[in-house]
Amino acid sequence: MELSKALEWGTKYLHEHGIENAREGAEYLLLDLLNCSRSSLYLNHNISLSTKELFSFFCFIRERARYVPPQYVTGKTWFSSLPFIVNENVMIPRPETEILVETAIERLSTIDYRLPTILDIGTGCGNIAISLATSISCQVYALDVSCHALNVAKENAKELLDVDSVAFICKDILESEFKLPKNLDLVISNPPYVPHDDIKGLPREVREYEPHMALDGGKDGVKFYPSIVYLASGALSSGGYLALEVGIGQAEKVRKIIFENGSYQQIETVNDYAGIERVIIAKKK
Ligand SMILES: C[S@@+](CC[C@H](N)C(=O)[O-])C[C@H]1O[C@@H](n2cnc3c(N)ncnc32)[C@H](O)[C@@H]1O
Repeated sequence: MELSKALEWGTKYLHEHGIENAREGAEYLLLDLLNCSRSSLYLNHNISLSTKELFSFFCFIRERARYVPPQYVTGKTWFSSLPFIVNENVMIPRPETEILVETAIERLSTIDYRLPTILDIGTGCGNIAISLATSISCQVYALDVSCHALNVAKENAKELLDVDSVAFICKDILESEFKLPKNLDLVISNPPYVPHDDIKGLPREVREYEPHMALDGGKDGVKFYPSIVYLASGALSSGGYLALEVGIGQAEKVRKIIFENGSYQQIETVNDYAGIERVIIAKKK
């Protein structure tokens, strides 16, 4: 079958199964499969796909038609210009989280550090920890309550890092006897922050396939912040930073939690590209 005919078939199949932006969706899967650019897809629209390529494309399309997110279908996504392995054990990294990483790197660069020591709480596929470790010389602890998520993060570290700059910790930060490493220069986290009752209103792809453990922020969505702020206050060195991603409308609550802890100064907010307050960064006194 010609490439253009396969694309037409895939688009129609996805459309009939109620997938929005069916054409883009089919293209995304075909581009991944053929490992080519969009322009070469159009330049080569009349080439024939091999039986193997065609079969793989049919399988991809059928999975996507069941509302499996495209990143789980292909098994990868991009974050901070790096390719990350993802599967149903980890949340798919979102572009706004790159702002969290960029903000943290910018702050660390203003301080005359030896090798900074960083803790990423709720690392998932390791996107924050690994993109930090590829951008600056540092030692990172990547922590998650899900050992399945950590296995994905370990695979990503093996693929993307030359040196052993990331160590992995499987722990629940809500456990009372939980202790963090000491003298950290940065604690960074994108914790689960979707209010519990909002999960049922999320798009089907998210609601049915992404781990609820990575989404559910409790009744008001801010369940994790008091523990993170408290734990970080004991673990950061004086002058170290706490950097947190927050959901829409949560910034004020999180700034209050940080302020009331009493251990932080210079509590600042960074907006995302849509103008939404997205990152809160504070300095340990
Ligand atoms: C919103 S996801 C963030 C994933 C990734 N860091 C990112 O930014 O794309 C939150 C992560 O927190 C982890 N998590 C949930 N509850 C936790 C807990 N009690 N202790 C530690 N990690 C937890 C989840 O498994 C999930 O990987």
